[in-house]
Amino acid sequence: MTHNNKRDFLTLRSFSSDELAYVIQRAHELKRLHLAGGEHRPLQGKTAALILELASTRTRVGFEAGMFQLGGHTIYLDPSVSQLGRGEPVSDTAAVLSGIVDVVIIRSLSQETVETFARFATVPVINAMTRYQHPCQLLADIQTFEEFRGSIRDKRVAFIGDGYNMCNSYIEASSLWDFELRIAAPEGYRPAPELLRANPRSEVVSAPADAVHNADLVVTDVWSSMGHDAEKLARKKAFADYQVNEALLDRAAADVLFMHCLPAHRGEEISETLLDDPRSVAFPESHNRLHSQKALLEFLLTNRR
Ligand code: CP
Repeated sequence: MTHNNKRDFLTLRSFSSDELAYVIQRAHELKRLHLAGGEHRPLQGKTAALILELASTRTRVGFEAGMFQLGGHTIYLDPSVSQLGRGEPVSDTAAVLSGIVDVVIIRSLSQETVETFARFATVPVINAMTRYQHPCQLLADIQTFEEFRGSIRDKRVAFIGDGYNMCNSYIEASSLWDFELRIAAPEGYRPAPELLRANPRSEVVSAPADAVHNADLVVTDVWSSMGHDAEKLARKKAFADYQVNEALLDRAAADVLFMHCLPAHRGEEISETLLDDPRSVAFPESHNRLHSQKALLEFLLTNRR
């Protein structure tokens, strides 16, 4: 199976701003079509391999349901019961799968693993989250913002919490969609200065209240992500002043939206009730994982682009 013009989606920077805008436009269109009961099966006969080295609900279900709705099929490869988990090199697995499936979707803590996979694969490779980036989540977040408020260009976005994969993807997004990003994170948990320098619309501010002032969108993520299990207690202490709650959102713009990639720890990074607040769009955001991932698959696997 030869794929000319193979493209990968390893970070948001894998695509140009115009390409990302096109994918989001298609996500809106595919959502409308789906909700109207329409069918669109451009991936008939295509197969995805989904390799998840870490737990997942939204990403897995979004990709599996998305491939099915587009007419394709997904094979889920649990590393614990595949040869990858027994030490078969990533490069060999990439070469093998490239002759059998049409796209590989992979979640690993290691960005290097995903990039190595892409280097040795002749089919498109999608980063389904690493400790460095979570680009698929950003597609759903931008789709959700546009759905509720229109263009995100020149809007003010506040990221409160860990300078980890979600924060890093927001930093790249600030350049690609041209919005202002203010990040509040405790010392020791801030994003890498070189990533901030490369994305000058992003800055670290000293406190959550400064970040959310007049913000159009407030975003957070868990204090301990996958890979931080041994640090949970220390992180709870470090992030204690970084909870997003109703009182903090009251300092933002009157029509602010709140997003969380989920799963959330109610009572930690958000108040017990924030997901139920009318300003929260975290559940529609999770539903848009389906539509935006369908748009991504269509972009990578068809000649529509
Ligand atoms: N937000 C997100 O990626 O969710 P899952 O870990 O459930 O896939």
